[in-house]
This record gives sequence, C-alpha cells and structure tokens, in this order.
Amino acid sequence: MPCPSRSDELVFFVNGRKVIERNADPEVTLLTYLRKKVRLTGTKYACGRGGCGACTVMVSKRDPASEKIRHFSVTACLIPICSLYGAAVTTVEGVGSIKTRLHPVQERIAKSHGTQCGFCTPGMVMSMYTLLRNHPQPSEEQLMAALGGNLCRCTGYRPVLASGKTFCLTSSKYDLDPIPRHKLLLQVHLPMADHKNQQVHPKTKEWPMIAYF
Ligand code: FES
Ligand code: FES
Repeated sequence: MPCPSRSDELVFFVNGRKVIERNADPEVTLLTYLRKKVRLTGTKYACGRGGCGACTVMVSKRDPASEKIRHFSVTACLIPICSLYGAAVTTVEGVGSIKTRLHPVQERIAKSHGTQCGFCTPGMVMSMYTLLRNHPQPSEEQLMAALGGNLCRCTGYRPVLASGKTFCLTSSKYDLDPIPRHKLLLQVHLPMADHKNQQVHPKTKEWPMIAYF
C-alpha cells in the first residue's frame, strides 16, 4: 500500500480485518495493541524483550521491487505499530482454532506432544506457519532456523521439531505418522527407578528423569 505524504491515519490489517488508528502512539508495540486493543490474547507476553518468541506473529508486506508478498515472523513485543502501515498481521487466532478448524501446524504439534503448559505454543505455531508460507516443503535446516528464536521451558524441543519435520521434504514415512509417545521419550539416569509406575527411587528418593532428544 503506497504511503500517503501526510496523514495521521495508520492503516494495517489484522487477520484480514482492516484497522485504522488515528494519531497512533509511536510507543505502542504490536503486542500491546493485539492483547489490549483488539483483545487477541493468543499472542503471549513473556519476556517482552524479543528473547523468547512467545509473541511471534506473521507480518506480510508487498516487496516493491518484486511486487510479491513477503512473509516475516516477527516478535510483536519489539515492533511499534507505526511501522506497520499497509502490512498484514496474522496472529495464531487467524491461523486456526478448535472453534473453527485447526491448521495442520497446530494439529501436528498437539499430536506430537509438542505442547505442555502451552505458553510457547502460539509462537512456535506462528514461526512454523510463516516458514510454510514461504517454503511449503522446507528443509530440516530451514525448520531449525525458523524455530531458533522460540524458547520452551517445559516440553522440550524434540517433539516440537518432530511435528515440524512432518512438513519437510526429506521427512521419512515414519515421521509423517502421529508419533507414539513412547518413541519420543528417552529415560535417562537412575536405572533402578521404577519407570513404569513413576515412583521415587527407594534409596535416593529422587524421581526418574525423562528427557526429550
Ligand atoms: S515476549 Fe518474549 S520475545 Fe516477545
Ligand atoms: S510448553 Fe510450556 S513453555 Fe513450551
């Protein structure tokens, strides 16, 4: 969208809806705008400093040179809304939901057990979704790079990556199937612990550790 020479109107799009802000505050970030103004709280506020990826959304802009639409995954906590003139913002609500229909990215993360508390999941979904908009069949290297800015404190990265790998060109037939949980779990350490019943070790009183790789 061409930028008018003088205007106090900020125009952009959120999940396909046109929004017009008059006299927009240049200090308001996209994350604050989404959560407080348009009440799209699927985009999470965590670090607020661009470090965790929980607030990832997709911003689409027309490249004036190639005339093509380009998609970027951005951390909404770092983006002032005033930088979005003419852009289209897609949040996790615009990708899919259980009220309407889940997007395959959302469905496969869930089926791969890639979500636990779920706080990082919208950001993971948006990073993967943006990757797929740019590269419908990405390589595993592209997948790793796309998720490089998304942190998870509970589930671990193995099942998240396993879900993303189902979209990759080089994925095997095994990866395309819903991944059985017992194949994702690797019991480590404490060989004397009762893993089956998850009881504490009788002598060390420690719980068996479960790790994802
Ligand atoms: S809230 Fe952590 S990167 Fe934005
Ligand atoms: S599932 Fe809890 S932070 Fe990732």
